Amino acid sequence: MSQPVQIRFEEAQEADLTALTGQIAIFADAAAPLSPLARKLDRAAKGAFSRAVASDAFAKLKPGEGLELAFPAGLAADAVQILRLPKRTDTQAARKAGAVIGAAHRSQPLTVLAEGHPKSAEIAFGLAIRAYEFEIYRSGEKKPWGPVAFRVTKPEEVAASAAPLAALAEGVFFTRDLINEPANVLTTFEFAARLAAMQELGLDVEILEEEELERLGMRALLGVGQGSESPSKVVVMQWRGGAKDEAPLALIGKGVCFDTGGISLKPAAGMEDMVMDMGGAGTVAGVMRTLALRKAKTNVVGIVGLVENMPDGRAQRPGDVVKSMKGDTIEVINTDAEGRLVLADVLWYAQERFSPRGMIDLATLTGAVIVALGNENAGVFSNDDTLCNAFLKAAEAEAEGAWRLPLGDAYDAMLKSRVADMRNSCGREAGSITAAQFLQRFVKADMPWIHLDIAGTAWAKSGTAFSPKGATGWGVRALNRLIQDRFEG
Ligand code: BES
Ligand code: MN
Ligand code: ZN
Repeated sequence: MSQPVQIRFEEAQEADLTALTGQIAIFADAAAPLSPLARKLDRAAKGAFSRAVASDAFAKLKPGEGLELAFPAGLAADAVQILRLPKRTDTQAARKAGAVIGAAHRSQPLTVLAEGHPKSAEIAFGLAIRAYEFEIYRSGEKKPWGPVAFRVTKPEEVAASAAPLAALAEGVFFTRDLINEPANVLTTFEFAARLAAMQELGLDVEILEEEELERLGMRALLGVGQGSESPSKVVVMQWRGGAKDEAPLALIGKGVCFDTGGISLKPAAGMEDMVMDMGGAGTVAGVMRTLALRKAKTNVVGIVGLVENMPDGRAQRPGDVVKSMKGDTIEVINTDAEGRLVLADVLWYAQERFSPRGMIDLATLTGAVIVALGNENAGVFSNDDTLCNAFLKAAEAEAEGAWRLPLGDAYDAMLKSRVADMRNSCGREAGSITAAQFLQRFVKADMPWIHLDIAGTAWAKSGTAFSPKGATGWGVRALNRLIQDRFEG
């Protein structure tokens, strides 16, 4: 797994500033004087930094953005990055400033002069999640990130406020590592093993094998995996930090370790990106990890369906009819519309076994959601305005794009099948909505439910504000916040 950047919080001290080697970052605001430590650096550099702050280039920066001065005379440091960030700033600008520092790989020591900045922990969080890189398969000479030291006024206080954020970052990294892994490494076996390893953290993890899934009647899920050498699995992760008798919130994830499309084979171009088709399951896993690490005071169960969608002599065919655990039959029009088949059974299982207080499923479900919303927003579908609005608010606070799309009977009618209770695919029109509509058939009438279609947000072709290219970890932050704000205490 990837090696995250190590951040220490140290007492701000003046003595060694001009002798600091490597990189330095300072925060400035044209309207306010430089901080005492930054002023000391500025004097040693003959006013280079105060001139930079007064420049037109600095005035053009948005909050959180920065500019860099290389090899400043009078200092031992190789570069000083000046970020535009006032002392009174919101969480997102502070994280953005951190992320701007973290976006450039630095193998030399980095010192961040954050003395007295009230959002030091948030700056460090932004730096850490943007600095993530997945380089484990490169055999070149790339040096890892050097040590990062934050100079702050009250190290213990900052470290205390950074602890829950470190738990969150670790969840995000876990999600990204899972999603970035190639499918020859992250088989259903390996995925289940990495989840089982979280027992150490106090999660209760069960792995349901094919025999058990067969007994439960999960033929919709099993049909998807039957062309693969990797057996299908359902993994149940329980975090019990709340009252004994309190019903859990259920998080459900699509875990298609690789999606070739099956017999309805996908085109070759871009198929390699389908290593991310377990993104929903990876996100659920990252949230569960964060909840365990920060010992959340609530009950949450994470359930993921792990399968591989392969073409094979035993693979499911277009035209097959399968029976779901619920009992409804499904005509498989297109074997590439497999995610909904997996989720149908996992959603039903979650309700039958746990009677949860609400369900949120995550899935890289449709290409159509990318057509509709691009990579900026996940598609949000829900039967419950209160829960949905709470989620949208949490997503906004975490700067994770989310946009609600409609459900309705007319869309549901499009699922009508020639031979079975429903069909799994009904053409290009409203493709994300009909997929959500399919899932809703497996949600009981009074069950508050959100479906998140993360096909566009789970993965980025180039770096974003808070992640490098590849897996973004979208949703871990928003879900963690939703749980914290709405389901704890
Ligand atoms: N995993 C794909 C959706 C997807 C596409 C995720 C692009 C990420 C990027 C899903 O299983 C799929 O193939 N969906 C089909 C559904 C169609 C056959 C009804 C699609 O979107 O084309
Ligand atoms: Mn597919
Ligand atoms: Zn898929």
